[in-house]
Amino acid sequence: MKTILTGIRSNSVLTLGNYLGALLPMVRLANKWSNEYQVNIFVPDLHSIISEVDGDLQENIIQTIKYYLAAGLEVNENVHIYRQSYVPAHSELCWILNCVATMGETSRMIQYKEKSKGQESCNVGIFDYPILMAADILLYSAEYIPLGEDQFQHIELARNIATRFNNRFGEIFVVPAKTADQVKFMGVSDGIRIRDLLTPEKKMSKSTRAENSKIMLDDDPEKAAKKIMSATTDSLGIIKFDMWGQPGISNLLQIESLITDTPLQDVISTWAGQTSYGELKRKVASSVSAMLSEFQEKLKNIPDEEVYKLLEKGEKYANEVAGKKLYEVQKAFHLR
Ligand code: TYM
Repeated sequence: MKTILTGIRSNSVLTLGNYLGALLPMVRLANKWSNEYQVNIFVPDLHSIISEVDGDLQENIIQTIKYYLAAGLEVNENVHIYRQSYVPAHSELCWILNCVATMGETSRMIQYKEKSKGQESCNVGIFDYPILMAADILLYSAEYIPLGEDQFQHIELARNIATRFNNRFGEIFVVPAKTADQVKFMGVSDGIRIRDLLTPEKKMSKSTRAENSKIMLDDDPEKAAKKIMSATTDSLGIIKFDMWGQPGISNLLQIESLITDTPLQDVISTWAGQTSYGELKRKVASSVSAMLSEFQEKLKNIPDEEVYKLLEKGEKYANEVAGKKLYEVQKAFHLR
């Protein structure tokens, strides 16, 4: 059986960007494919400690798993939920891949450049982040990895490392699908990048200070609707999907398409040529607030015990699968 895999760090409450870029696509893919694919959902807690964690990491981890359930994830025997640090093969393979990846390719990662910019002493974890991520993926032979567009470069790096390794040692790793095929599998026409509501040229991010620039999953639904109503648009006065020319309006169309699970092209056609930005905002604000109300209601009713049960089962599975792959790699290097 092939594998679909994804992870979201649990450093704080998630944004609407995390939700629409990775969490919801994963839930929809899992519900559609979990009879034919293994579906691995994990919390990359070792990736979390490269930077400050808001609140308590343990609580955040449990909350992040509840987010998937609240978003509608249906769990069956092919859906596996686990924590990265509970499967030691991840760190072990990361070290081995450190000896396969090059400084040049890793230094070119945009996330590393952005996160290390202006820091006097950047921790090595920030640099090594994509190599651990490659280990997360390659241990489980994952083919599809639903992620936001900002992470595509890391998928390409994982592909390069896997290909180089296989050229040297034989077909040990499954090379993940190309990003163009990942996007197709996710059923979107392009990579997903939800924009900052006030500065739509930038992506929506947890770390942006201005409250109105981002929607958090624990926002009061009415407050979230107000944030959409005050989103920056433009002065062209015509609704058109053009991420470069009209990023604010395009962002609203994108959000509406993802929340309502309507193909972007259909949402674009519905609104094409209309002139009332207010009307579009009201529609998106109502979709966002309805989504948040339903999500938050479900979230309240998921007991911690349900999550711990899933983790126990998932971590047993993950240790078995990852342990076998790690052993193949260790043998290739004559470590075993
Ligand atoms: P993290 O926690 O930084 O991001 C989680 C996911 O949210 C997506 N995302 C967005 N998507 C669209 N618009 C936005 N504004 C936006 N902001 C964030 C990110 O693209 C990401 O998919 N490195 C991963 C965690 C990870 C992982 C892995 C994922 C570690 N190992 C292995 C898959 C496979 C990350 O970005 O986490």
